Amino acid sequence: MRLGVYDLGVPVFLAPLAGVTDKAFRETVCSVGGKYVWTEMISDKALTYQNSRTLSMLDLRGEAEPRIVQLFGSDPETMARAAVLAVECSANVIDINMGCPAPKIVKNSEGAALLKDLPRAQAIASAVVQAVKVPVTVKMRLGWDDDKIVALDLAKGLESVGVQMLTVHARTRDQFYSGYADWDWIGRVKNEVNIPVIGNGDVFKPEDASRLIEQTGCDGVMIGRGALGNPWLILRTQHFLNYGELLPEPHMEERIRVALQHLDRVLCYKGERIGLNEMRKHAVWYIKGFNKAAQLRDEIMQTKTPEEMRSILNRIV
Ligand SMILES: Cc1cc2nc3c(=O)[nH]c(=O)nc-3n(C[C@H](O)[C@H](O)[C@H](O)COP(=O)(O)O)c2cc1C
Repeated sequence: MRLGVYDLGVPVFLAPLAGVTDKAFRETVCSVGGKYVWTEMISDKALTYQNSRTLSMLDLRGEAEPRIVQLFGSDPETMARAAVLAVECSANVIDINMGCPAPKIVKNSEGAALLKDLPRAQAIASAVVQAVKVPVTVKMRLGWDDDKIVALDLAKGLESVGVQMLTVHARTRDQFYSGYADWDWIGRVKNEVNIPVIGNGDVFKPEDASRLIEQTGCDGVMIGRGALGNPWLILRTQHFLNYGELLPEPHMEERIRVALQHLDRVLCYKGERIGLNEMRKHAVWYIKGFNKAAQLRDEIMQTKTPEEMRSILNRIV
């Protein structure tokens, strides 16, 4: 599939994950062969107010194209201004969040709240498309709840205003992350529009991705939770889709090696206090399934310095 000037083949994307897909994690995923990554969602308002923490989320230096930045907001004009700023910070694609279910987001009419207001959703997409020259994409859920599935109408409306790719997380807002993603809806959206559709929801291993494509005809897949502590999953899935060959899972030494590099990156970008705080959860994900993982987890959660974290990780191998 193509997105603007980019020929992406059948892409496997690392999903936008707030609190997870920061620069350190994106670089880690790419260091083990992942190609297509997404920023965390970034508030349009905070960006236009030049909030310093938000601006640091737009540090894309050294990252390969296409650099995909996800914005969330509820006001077309503010979203358009934020998109311009993101492009000035070297974004190559602007993605609009129409799926975040968090109460603090939807109460501001942002994220999944847009599924209840299609004219506004479309107006936002249209304003962003008009404001920037780079491709604009949307990541959406199916609807607010089972009684109000709007995916087809929304997809058609977004295509009509110039959105160039849709990612469909096949759950409703009410589901949050529970139950199963209903992949059939991804196929229905794919049949409804002529722009590429990326399937998302419950891809935890490479074989899931090929089933998702077979079942729905979608043009690519996106992986979120499966990549937590498992950045290799993006390349392994891409390789399986491209060549039908299953690469081996990383062994323990490799997991620790990459976790230590990830730690160095996060300390470099966020400093010792915040970096260590954020790395604890990643470290626990990296050691999932290891011998004595529960005990290691407790030790990791109590680390007070990077040296302590390093020595626990080094002790494992
Ligand atoms: C911790 C966490 C943070 C997330 N943050 C975002 C976000 O910032 N933007 C977004 O569009 N979706 C976000 N999502 C949703 C994921 O991108 C993805 O759609 C969802 O997890 C389903 O895919 P999966 O089954 O592969 O995890 C988040 C999900 C999780 C678990």
